[in-house]
Formats: sequence, C-alpha cells, structure tokens
Amino acid sequence: MTDVQRVDPAHPDADVIARAAECLRAGGLVAFPTETVYGLGAHALDRAAILRVFAAKERPANDPLIVHVATLDAAEALVEDIPRVARELAARFWPGPLTMVLRRSARVPDEVTAGLATVAIRVPSHPVARALLERARIPVAAPSANLFSRPSPTRAAHVLADLNGRIDMIVDGGATNVGLESTVIDLAGGLPTILRPGAIDLDALRRLVPDVVSRRATAPQTAAMTSPGMLPKHYSPKTPLVLYEGDRETALAEMTRDARRRAGRGDSIVVLSYTEDAGELSNLGVRIVELAAEENPAAVAARLYAALRECDELGASAILVRSVTTSHPLTSAIQDRLRRAAAP
Ligand code: TXA
Ligand code: MG
Repeated sequence: MTDVQRVDPAHPDADVIARAAECLRAGGLVAFPTETVYGLGAHALDRAAILRVFAAKERPANDPLIVHVATLDAAEALVEDIPRVARELAARFWPGPLTMVLRRSARVPDEVTAGLATVAIRVPSHPVARALLERARIPVAAPSANLFSRPSPTRAAHVLADLNGRIDMIVDGGATNVGLESTVIDLAGGLPTILRPGAIDLDALRRLVPDVVSRRATAPQTAAMTSPGMLPKHYSPKTPLVLYEGDRETALAEMTRDARRRAGRGDSIVVLSYTEDAGELSNLGVRIVELAAEENPAAVAARLYAALRECDELGASAILVRSVTTSHPLTSAIQDRLRRAAAP
C-alpha cells in the first residue's frame, strides 16, 4: 500500500517532509506536487531507485528523467559546466517550470539519462517540492507520476489511480498550479532548442536567448531526435481523441457535424468543451466534459489532464475536442499536448 500524506501546499508539515526526504534518501519512491504536475521522485544517484521508477511507471528505459535540485549550485556537480546562457535563464526563471538540458558529468548514472551525454535539470518552485529537496539534500530524479503514456497527474488522486501499491509514498499537496509539464530547452551545445513547450514560452526565452528555436511536436522523427519522450504520442488518454484545429467557427462547425454523424450511428462519444461552447453543444445529445473558458488559457492548462482522465472514465469510443485559438503564452503548450493526445 502506498502511504498518502496530505499537507498544506503553502506550508507543508515538517514531519511529513522529513519522512518523505528520508524515504528518498533510502532509495524509496515518493510522489510529490510541483508547480507543473506531480513528480515521481527517486534518489538520482541511486541506480536501483532509478530502475524502480522505470518499473513503477512501465516507462521504457530509453526515455531519460529530469533531475530536480533545490538550487543552481546543487546542479554544478551534475553537469560538465553551466554555460552563461543557462545561468541567465536560471536567474530569471528558477525556481520555476523550466528544464535545461546540459552536458552531464560522470556522477549522473546512465539509467537517469538513458545513456545520453546530457542531463535535464530543473529547480521547481512549488513549496512542497522545495521543502522536500532542501530537506533531502540529494538530487531527485522525477518523471511525471503517471503510468507511461497516460496523462500526467495534476492531483494526488491521479497518482494513486496509476501507481497505488507501486510506490512508497504520495505527498498530497492538492491540485498543481500550471497543469502542464515544464518547458524543456536544450542548451547542450547546438542551437538552443525548445524540446517541449510549457508555461515559459518562446517569446519569454527569446528575450534572454535570441537564437532559440522550437521543435514542432508533430515534426517527423529524425536521427537528430535525441529524446524518445518527445515522441508525438505521449500525453494520451486511453480513448481515441479527435482534434479539430483552426479558427473557432470552422473547428466548432466541423466538430459539431462529426459529433452528430457519430451519435447518429450509435457511437458513444464525449465532447471536451470550452465553457463558451457548452451551450451550443448541449443540444447534440452527447456527453460533455467541460474544460474551462477558452479565454482563460491558464485555467484550460490547469484542468486539461484532469478533464482527459474524466473523459476516459466515461468509456466512450472517442473524445472530440477543438484546439485553443486564444493568443497567450500557454497556447502552444496546450496545442502541443492536444496534438500529442490526438496522435495515432
Ligand atoms: O514539469 C515537469 O517537467 C515534470 C515535473 C515532475 O518536474 N516532469 C516531467 O518529467 O514531465 P517527464 O519524465 O514526464 O518528462 C521529461 C521529459 C521527457 O520528454 C524526456 O524525454 C525529456 O524530458 N528529457 C529528459 N532528459 C533529457 C535529455 N537529457 N535530453 C533531452 N530530453 C530529455
Ligand atoms: Mg511524463
């Protein structure tokens, strides 16, 4: 049985944090909230603990983990060097939802990096994550605390649904804030590249890294694709998801036609709907799961994975959803996750 401990997210109980930190130091697996999603933590320098993470998640061994540390200084020992641009990004965005891929040092086990010459590092800002890292005084490798290929967990209940009995402890700090995984930027020597869009968007990064480029989530796989976790199909519900892209009117009309057609032939479908669309969609006679207001992308991001899990629980034959059109720093991250969820 997994031990679930509820804490105040802003002021986590010191005894619970101490127990979780001890568990990590001893090679145990502890899920904890970060500002993005829940992570499944393990001692990053303990190979056996890392192998347990892969086993618990049923994650392929060739998908490297992010190492979480309390401060930039704590990252020094894990990397060959910290380039100036990384220091500048750290000063601006850490603690926070930014992961930097840097050339690794020999201290980091191959199991963490999937044998790559680089390691992904992040300093999270969530008070629970910070308290845990400060108390444990070890680097903590933490992938999202979901079964491989399920939507990332934004609540302790999601972690429990996927990993109950497979991990030692869950520190339950309530719902996470951002709701989508961190931005991953590759600074290992080539052109600075956004490998995964997140809350820290291209424009924000460009102010400090003018030559940064972003790699499209749905771009064809090439030899240069260093990270299997970036495979298009990654953040997916079990139920097939159909995504309608383009401007609101066109996408909504197309989705409505499709919903009618599918319902007409007796398919049980569910529409994942923005608040603004719900009225229009309600007379279709299909099930609707409400996401949030499209004009509030932060709320859409925060609820997306929970909503995908709710859709899954309805056991429908398909989930229909229209992409976000609002212009906002979170827009490309939301579009990216929806495209991945829809990837065949
Ligand atoms: O917000 C987040 O980043 C969350 C929280 C828990 O911190 N973590 C998370 O971890 O999303 P995970 O394992 O689900 O995703 C890590 C991503 C994967 O796509 C992986 O391929 C990529 O980061 N990654 C890790 N190390 C890498 C490396 N050395 N080079 C390129 N990509 C790497
Ligand atoms: Mg993940």
